[in-house]
Amino acid sequence: MKIFLVILCGILLFSCVSVTKDTNGIVLNDEPYRPQVHFSPDSMWMNDPNGMVYYDGEYHLFYQYYPDSTIWGPMHWGHAKSTDLIHWERMPIALFPDSLGWIFSGSTVADENNTSGLGTKENPPLVAIYTYHNRPLEDTGVNNFEYQGIAYSTDKGRSWTKYEYNPVLPNPGIRDFRDPKVFWHMESNRWMMILAVQDHVSIYSSPNLIDWTFESNFGEGTGAHNGVWECPDLFPMETGDTTKWVMLVSIGSGGPNGGSATQYFVGDFDGHTFISEGTKTKWVDYGKDNYAGVTWSNVPTEDRRRLFIGWLNNWQYANEIPTGKWRGAMTVARELELVEVYNDFLLVSRPVEELQSLRGKEQQLKPETVSGELEIKKSLEFPIEVSLHFDTKNSSAVNFAERFGIILSNANDQKLLIGYDNLNKLFFIDRTEAGWDSSNNEFAGKHFAPYINNDPILDMHLIIDRSSVELFAKGGLVVMTEQFFPTESFNSIKLFSEHGEIPLSEGTLWPLSSIWNEGIRKLKHKK
Ligand code: FRU
Repeated sequence: MKIFLVILCGILLFSCVSVTKDTNGIVLNDEPYRPQVHFSPDSMWMNDPNGMVYYDGEYHLFYQYYPDSTIWGPMHWGHAKSTDLIHWERMPIALFPDSLGWIFSGSTVADENNTSGLGTKENPPLVAIYTYHNRPLEDTGVNNFEYQGIAYSTDKGRSWTKYEYNPVLPNPGIRDFRDPKVFWHMESNRWMMILAVQDHVSIYSSPNLIDWTFESNFGEGTGAHNGVWECPDLFPMETGDTTKWVMLVSIGSGGPNGGSATQYFVGDFDGHTFISEGTKTKWVDYGKDNYAGVTWSNVPTEDRRRLFIGWLNNWQYANEIPTGKWRGAMTVARELELVEVYNDFLLVSRPVEELQSLRGKEQQLKPETVSGELEIKKSLEFPIEVSLHFDTKNSSAVNFAERFGIILSNANDQKLLIGYDNLNKLFFIDRTEAGWDSSNNEFAGKHFAPYINNDPILDMHLIIDRSSVELFAKGGLVVMTEQFFPTESFNSIKLFSEHGEIPLSEGTLWPLSSIWNEGIRKLKHKK
């Protein structure tokens, strides 16, 4: 009887959870490389996150989407929404290309006071501000084929109407003129737009999201410039008693480990001009796979968080990754914080705390000195969250390891190493032998991040999904996000130390349930 009841409950649970099957009867979202705790489109091509806005209890995530291919092409805005930044509901396409062009990256604001007049006082609109990329015009050889348009929704982002008199910001004759991020500037009571313009950003202001006035430029000769500037963001952050403005700027190539990456500047903004402090180039993420990330607008003031999400990919090989019927995923949603370290302002990133709701039964590792390799979990399944503290001052270790960390491996001798190089004082992710490589060999390789500060406790927090790892080290001061595609799933997870030993002072593992097939995984774990 008991067995019968268990089976019956199982069948019921199976049919209640959002397990959808395609026409071949295959369970969706369960492919070998399918991210289980990250957003990915059901099928086809996705790149940058766009128009992220919180409104009426829902976090919206729009994204660059091409519904007809897994290769980049005529851009649309895809759409997903969530109430917790973790579970995403895929929504119909929000914006389609039209006679003015393809719909490139941009932002969405809640126009609460109906400054645009596109809604009503009682039902104010959401307004999306995006770039039109006019391909036929580009093909004629002129430079003015990118300009900004707007669209609005008065039904909480479900349907969108393009503004009748687009574009709202025409092109002044500049080739790269795109990716508007708009925010309300309280002090001057008007909207501000930050726009990527080739090798700098331009700032514009507007009373109504329709009429825009140029304010200033920033960036020529400052920061990293080995690629075109794209997808900027600008927002205030408090640290102690100080408020600073942080500017994010993505660059298409020339990141710290090659290819696309996102740099940031910290400084002051007076409603007209941004002035950056310091000259050192700072990176949001040192891994190769976090690009075009920006932050959510309209997050309630009581929440106080600055919420970020990035595209988990790199233009060097984005069109080639072997995922399957979809191509592209987002990072986990992250909270950004600004901290003062050694008289410098630095960004800290952490997975949003909502992610913890996916944690299954916690497994504690016993503190011990690791020498060689040590298996830390039997029957490994992804996604998994891992937290490790190594004590680099512990006197019980005779001879400190030159390198230590975690190895994921499979029976095909493929392995991914995530760790710390004690000789060179660098964190690293080594996917040289992790399986798939791109045709330009830019994928397989060893990638590094600096140590930043000298605390003897070296912490590593990892979110490992079926084809990606996110490393948050030093409390989130050092971040590395990378993909991996072994020919067979990694089924072993070990701690390792090379040329010496390393004391592990704390270690915890949590299996994470899938955001798509939660019911199935819970059932599996019960067995
Ligand atoms: C960044 C980017 C943006 C552009 C979009 C096009 O990845 O190149 O500058 O708006 O992608 O899809």
